[in-house]
Amino acid sequence: MMVTFKEAELSPEKDLKTILDKLQYADSAQVQRQLVDQTLQVKIRMGQIKRKLVVMSGKGGVGKSMTTTNLALAFSRLKHRVGVLDVDLNGPCIPKMLGMKGRFEITPDGAVPPVGPNGIKVASMDFFLKGETSSVQWKGPMELSPVWLGLMEMNVIREFIADVIWTDVDYLLADLPPGAAADKPPVIAGFIPELDGAIVVATPSEVAMTVVKKSIGYARDVGIPIIGLVENMSGAFCPKCDEAVPFFDGGCEALCEELKVPLLGKVPFDAQLAKACDHGMPLSDDHRITKYFDDIAKKIQDFLESKKNLAVESLRRNK
Ligand SMILES: Nc1ncnc2c1ncn2[C@@H]1O[C@H](COP(=O)(O)OP(=O)(O)OP(=O)(O)O)[C@@H](O)[C@H]1O
Ligand SMILES: [Mg+2]
Ligand SMILES: [Zn+2]
Repeated sequence: MMVTFKEAELSPEKDLKTILDKLQYADSAQVQRQLVDQTLQVKIRMGQIKRKLVVMSGKGGVGKSMTTTNLALAFSRLKHRVGVLDVDLNGPCIPKMLGMKGRFEITPDGAVPPVGPNGIKVASMDFFLKGETSSVQWKGPMELSPVWLGLMEMNVIREFIADVIWTDVDYLLADLPPGAAADKPPVIAGFIPELDGAIVVATPSEVAMTVVKKSIGYARDVGIPIIGLVENMSGAFCPKCDEAVPFFDGGCEALCEELKVPLLGKVPFDAQLAKACDHGMPLSDDHRITKYFDDIAKKIQDFLESKKNLAVESLRRNK
């Protein structure tokens, strides 16, 4: 039997533990059936979405969620209908950054995501949790191995993705959790069918770039195209002339060159941006940071369009 979120009777009082308790796999044939069912279901549910992207990095805290949030707003300004899938179980924060306090509407068919600013639909584990203080964290027996915990988490994520009903969405952005192992984000990305590619976020410091390199390697190994890299916190605005001054010489350019990944933009550190994220008040359309994301979104859109045109062209030529 396939256990879904609606069957797990998710209410604000129930938490991840409840869901996990309900996941009892009797035999491997049953697990396989469930996986096939879920994969098909996700394919159907995401079938109408024109573009599917994941935002990832190798490292935590580099600005994935901030980038996802601001790209979602930028795509909506480009007149696309946008959905955001917040896949972070341990620290879902897209709703907070977009200032949303909604709930999923649980229907017999699945969970309908609430709508936030600019009509952006957001599916987040946060909408299953009770208060600000509750976080989805494993509180079970500590003797469980990390491998087993990882499998459980993957199962929950897969189920979560399978249960969301998407309607009227052109662009879907998935905010991936940080991976303690570099292969975790690409594996989760694999749950999304017909993915257009990944946007990688990195800070220009050396450590973050080493991890990001590994992560890009894994993503490519499993066939996820890398659309480009966003360098975040790459500098700061000069208080005198308002110009962005880089923290490091060169930043991510060398890495992008080496890996043949387009550098989509360099977003400076900005105190108002940090505040906007903390308070769930998106920056105004004319804010100095907003134009960075408008520019990045435009590049992504143009790239995806040109890819589509190329595909149409080669189809025509092969006829
Ligand atoms: N360019 C920036 N200027 C100012 N603050 C920023 C900037 N980028 C990110 N931040 C802030 O840094 C913090 C971390 O960003 P964010 O949560 O997006 O990182 P993350 O990569 O999603 O983290 P995690 O790996 O935990 O999911 C947030 O408080 C965010 O508001
Ligand atoms: Mg995050
Ligand atoms: Zn200056």
